[in-house]
Amino acid sequence: MRSDAIKIDHFDQFIARQEFSKWRDQLLKQALYNIRPERHGDLPRWQAALDRLPALTTDRKSYDVSKISIGAATEISSALKIQLKASLMELHPWRKGPYQLFGLHIDSEWRSDWKWDRLAKHLPDITGHNVLDVGCGNGYHCWRMLGFGANYVLGIDPSIKFLIQHHAINRYARETQFDFLPLASEHLPEDLAYFDTVFSMGVIYHRRTPQNHLAELRNAMVAKGTLVLETLIVDEAPNGLLVPASRYAQMNNVWFIPTVSKLIEELAKADFINIRCVDINETSMSEQRSTSWMTFHSLENFLNPNDPTKTLEGYPRPKRAIVIANKS
Ligand SMILES: C[S@@+](CC[C@H](N)C(=O)[O-])C[C@H]1O[C@@H](n2cnc3c(N)ncnc32)[C@H](O)[C@@H]1O
Repeated sequence: MRSDAIKIDHFDQFIARQEFSKWRDQLLKQALYNIRPERHGDLPRWQAALDRLPALTTDRKSYDVSKISIGAATEISSALKIQLKASLMELHPWRKGPYQLFGLHIDSEWRSDWKWDRLAKHLPDITGHNVLDVGCGNGYHCWRMLGFGANYVLGIDPSIKFLIQHHAINRYARETQFDFLPLASEHLPEDLAYFDTVFSMGVIYHRRTPQNHLAELRNAMVAKGTLVLETLIVDEAPNGLLVPASRYAQMNNVWFIPTVSKLIEELAKADFINIRCVDINETSMSEQRSTSWMTFHSLENFLNPNDPTKTLEGYPRPKRAIVIANKS
C-alpha cells in the first residue's frame, strides 16, 4: 500500500491558515497519524473512487437548503452522471445528508436536515462567526452553518470514511471557508480559545468521560462563545444517567445517556451559563432509515419489533435533546 494513500494536499488549505499556525504542526501530525494507511485497509479503494470522480466545475452551490446542492443537472452528461454515481457509491454507506450533486440525489440514512431545522430556529445569529463542528460526520451540518452565515467552519471527525466523503463533495464545491480534519475532540489544543460557536452533536455519549468532552469544547471557545450540544437523552434514570450494560440500539460505544436535568447539571459543573434545552425529539423511522445509499440495517432493525417504544436491548427508544449554553 502506498504511504501517501491519503493525499496530504487535502490539508493544504488548513495548513495555509495563519490563525492556526501556533498549533498547525501538532494538529497535522495527529491528523496524519489518525489516517495512517495501515489502519484503513479500504483506503486505496476509497482514494481510487475519489480519483475516478468526473472532472466537473460549477458555480452553482446552495448550502441553505435541505439538500446541499452543488452543480445543476444541466451541467452534466448522462454518461458522466453514471460515472459520478458509481464513484460516490464506492463510498457507501452515506449516513449523513441529503446532498444533490449535479442533480444526483444522495439519499442518506439520516435526514440530517431535520436535525438542522429543529436547531436552526433556536440558534443565535452566527453571521461572521468562526465555527467548530466536533464530530461533524461527513460535514453535512458544516455546509448548513456556512449557509447560515458563518465566516469559517472547521469540522473535525476521527472517521476517515467521513473525511473521504467530505472530499468527494468538496471536489465540486471547492469551498475555501470550510476545512475538515480527521481529529477527535481529545486532539484539540487546550489553549485554542478561537471559535465563536462550537457544535457537538451526537458525540458526548460516545465519550467515557463527559466532563472531559465539555472541557475540550469549552477550551475551543472564545469567552461568552456559544455551545450547541445535541445528545441522546432519557426521560428518567437512577441518578439521571442510563448506563447501558453493553449495546444501546445495537451501538457498542454508548457509555451513558443522561436525562435533560442531569445534562444541564453537568454543563453548569463545567462552567457554562445561560443553559437552555431548546428541543426534545424522539427519532422516527422516517428520520433514520435504510436507503439505496445506506443499505445496512437502520433504526427499525434496532427497535423491539413487538414493542417499538424499546430498543432491542430493552431500553427506551432513541430520543434526543438540543441544549444551547454560553462559556462563562
Ligand atoms: C452520531 S454521529 C453524529 C454526526 C453529526 N454531528 C450529526 O449530528 O449528524 C457521531 C460522530 O462523532 C464522531 N466521534 C466519535 N467520537 C468522537 C470524538 N471523541 N471526537 C470527535 N468526534 C467523535 C463519530 O466518528 C461520528 O461521526
